[in-house]
Amino acid sequence: MPSRRHVLSLLSAAPFAPALAGCASGNLPDAVAGWRDPGAGETDPRRFALAHAILAPNPHNTQPWLVELDDADGMTLYCDLDRRIPFTDPLDRQITIGHGCFLELYRMSAGLKNYWPNIEFFPEGEPTPRLDARPVARVTLGPQQAQPNSDPSTLQIVNRHTNRNPYDARVPTAEQLDALVNVVVGMGEEYTGGVYWTNDEARVAQGRDLVWRGWDREQRTEGAAAETFGWLRFGRREIAEHRDGLGMSGAGIELFKMLGQLNREQLIDPDSSANKTATKNWREMAMTSPAFLWITSNGDTPSMRLNAGRAYARLALAAQDMGLAIHPWSQTLEEYEEMADLREEMRAFLAPPEGETVQMLVRIGFAEPVAPSARRAAQDFIRA
Ligand SMILES: Cc1cc2nc3c(=O)[nH]c(=O)nc-3n(C[C@H](O)[C@H](O)[C@H](O)COP(=O)(O)O)c2cc1C
Repeated sequence: MPSRRHVLSLLSAAPFAPALAGCASGNLPDAVAGWRDPGAGETDPRRFALAHAILAPNPHNTQPWLVELDDADGMTLYCDLDRRIPFTDPLDRQITIGHGCFLELYRMSAGLKNYWPNIEFFPEGEPTPRLDARPVARVTLGPQQAQPNSDPSTLQIVNRHTNRNPYDARVPTAEQLDALVNVVVGMGEEYTGGVYWTNDEARVAQGRDLVWRGWDREQRTEGAAAETFGWLRFGRREIAEHRDGLGMSGAGIELFKMLGQLNREQLIDPDSSANKTATKNWREMAMTSPAFLWITSNGDTPSMRLNAGRAYARLALAAQDMGLAIHPWSQTLEEYEEMADLREEMRAFLAPPEGETVQMLVRIGFAEPVAPSARRAAQDFIRA
C-alpha cells in the first residue's frame, strides 16, 4: 500500500504541465481535444450540450457521468458508480456536486441552441445514504425558443480550468467577490444556500494554515493516498490512454520516466526528491492564497448537493469571465474519520449559519493560466 506522503504530493507536477493542446501521443487520441469547439457539427442539440457538459469540474477528474438519450429530446443522467472516490468522499457528496456541475453546463450550452431545458432531480427518488443505480436527473429540452442563452460566461466553458498555480499577491476586491456572490444569488429560488468570502489578511492567513494542514493530513492518510494514487496519470502516454484522472505531464515528468525514476515504487517513498519538491509546491499554493470563498447549502440532501454543484459551475465560469483563477481545496470538508478534527476546525473557522453545510471551499485570485485537463470522448459517456 503506498504511503500517504507520496501520493498527493505527486500532484504538484500538475501545475507545471505545459499546454497539452494538440499533443496526441503516438496513435493515441488527443486527451484535450474535447476542449476545442465542443459539439461542432452536431445536429442533435443533446449531443451538443453533452460535449460541453463533460468539461465540468469534478472531483479527481473521474468524470463519473453516464447518460441515456431517450425520446426525442430527453437525457437521463446516471452516476457511473465505479468512478466514485469512496474513501475521501464516503457519502458521494462531492461526486454529486460534480453531477450538479455537469447539469448546469448541459443547461447553459443547450441555451446556446435556444433550448431552455427542464431538469428534474432524482426522478425515481433521492438515494440515501449514497448514490445508487437510479437516475440522478432527467432533462428534457422542450421546444426551441426565440431567444438563446446570452449569458457571456457560457462561452467560458471551454476556458475554465482549475488553476493550481501559485497565486499573485494581488487580492480580489470586495466588488469582484460580491459579483460572484450575485451570480449565485441570481439563481433565485433555485438556490437556497449561501456564498461567503474573505479577503481579510488576518483571516486569510488562518485559512491558509487550515487548508494546508488539511492537505498534509490527507497526504498522511493511507486510505486516501491509495485512492488518489489510482487516479494519477503520469506522462503524456498514460494521460492519452485514460483521458481522465489527475494528469501530470511536461518535460520533467517525461525525463523522470525516461530515467526510470518515475515508477510507482519510487514515488511511494516519502523521502524521494520528487515528493519533497511536491510538498513544497503545494505549500506554496496554500500560502499564496489571497482570498477564500465558500458555497453552502441549506441542509445536505442529494438535491441540495446537485444545486451546490450548479452554483459552483456558474460561479467558476463567471470567475473565468472576470479573469479570476479558482481552485477548490476540499480536504477539510471531507467526511472520513481521519479528517474529523480538522473538519470541525474548518467549520468553526468558516462559521456558516446554523443548518448550512459548506459544500465547496476555494482559493481565488490571480495566476498564470493552466493547461486543460483530459476528457474522454463525449460518445464514451452514452449508455446504449
Ligand atoms: C466537488 C469538487 C471538489 C474538488 N476538490 C478539489 C481539491 O480538493 N483539490 C484540487 O486540487 N482540486 C479539486 N477539485 C477540482 C477537480 O480536481 C477538477 O475539477 C478536475 O481535476 C478537472 O479539472 P478542471 O476543473 O480543470 O476541468 C474539485 C472539484 C470538485 C467539483
